[in-house]
Amino acid sequence: MSQIPVSFIAGTGLSVPEKILTNKDIEKIVDTTDEWIVSRTGIKTRHIVSEGVLTSDISKEASEIALKEAGVSPEELDFIILGTVSGDVSFPATACYVQEKIGAVNAAAFDITAACSGFLYSLIIGNGLFAAGNVENILVIGAETLSRITNWKDRNTCVLFGDGAGAAVLKKSKGDKGILATFMKSDGRLSQLLMNPGSINGQVVLDSKGEKMLPFINMQGREVFKNAIRSMEEAISNVLEQGNVSIEDIDLLVPHQANVRILDLLAERTGIGKGKIFINVDRYGNTSSASVPIALHEARKEGLLPEGSLCVMAAFGGGFTWGAVLVRF
Ligand code: UT7
Repeated sequence: MSQIPVSFIAGTGLSVPEKILTNKDIEKIVDTTDEWIVSRTGIKTRHIVSEGVLTSDISKEASEIALKEAGVSPEELDFIILGTVSGDVSFPATACYVQEKIGAVNAAAFDITAACSGFLYSLIIGNGLFAAGNVENILVIGAETLSRITNWKDRNTCVLFGDGAGAAVLKKSKGDKGILATFMKSDGRLSQLLMNPGSINGQVVLDSKGEKMLPFINMQGREVFKNAIRSMEEAISNVLEQGNVSIEDIDLLVPHQANVRILDLLAERTGIGKGKIFINVDRYGNTSSASVPIALHEARKEGLLPEGSLCVMAAFGGGFTWGAVLVRF
């Protein structure tokens, strides 16, 4: 990929529901302990939507913050791309509901299904649209209400996830700041390890033991754990190579927030060191496609990504899907 960027991130935003679920709260729902959750995942709290609040609602709030910072009005948007696996309805795209809610009357809107890689996939696709020409502004969102597809009787998964939305506004690049390199990949052979079989016409999906899967998030944690580290490591080294930079040149790594142990190992394996990896999984849990844009927004607000800084974002999720983006702020 060329190192002359076609787009840059002009604004970011986030929205998380007010309601907080602590580990102590979860102790009352399933057979678990605060000690187990913190030591195995690093998660202390997660935000959960109230009844009736949809993915498009929290997307709207995050988008309006990002648009304001970018100085872009909703009417000026050419595209809205939303990564989600917990959209409002099966169809139309949740991006279309966001379009209506923010009044982006001139945009084309669509969703991307790439689970926890959904925001990065959307960002990479958005960046590609600039290369195609005649595009000025794109709103990219990662948003989930995973609490609606979580099996609250399954202690293996219900302690992990949270709800939230993050957004970024991409503008046509004029200088040398912006997206410098991108990488995305998937492996459908491993789809069974992390999936929501849902319920299409009552269709029954069987797991590898021949048992009926429930229409919630199903995950074989240990296998996912190993692949998450390996895949994000691959994606990060790929964009560093494309951008002709080394890990020492990176000011901040903003990875998908699934488990603090994954992040510690990723810091060790990539050599970036713990001080340069952004971590907020303790407060939000795993918010799937929302985790990278929420972390990105918080990192920017904390002043960790000043003008000229170099950042790598990386994600891994169901599919399996994974990817990374190298960006100069
Ligand atoms: O976002 C997309 C990517 N997702 C991820 O990256 C998640 C990756 N996986 C993980 O983060 C970890 O595998 C988990 C946090 C999900 C699980 O941690 P683990 O250290 O791999 O535990 P485990 O699944 O191997 O389970 C160990 C034990 C089991 O008991 P036995 O069989 O050893 O007696 C589980 O039944 O821990 C038990 N366990 C729990 N105990 C208390 C599982 N969940 C819980 C729980 N509370 N909530």
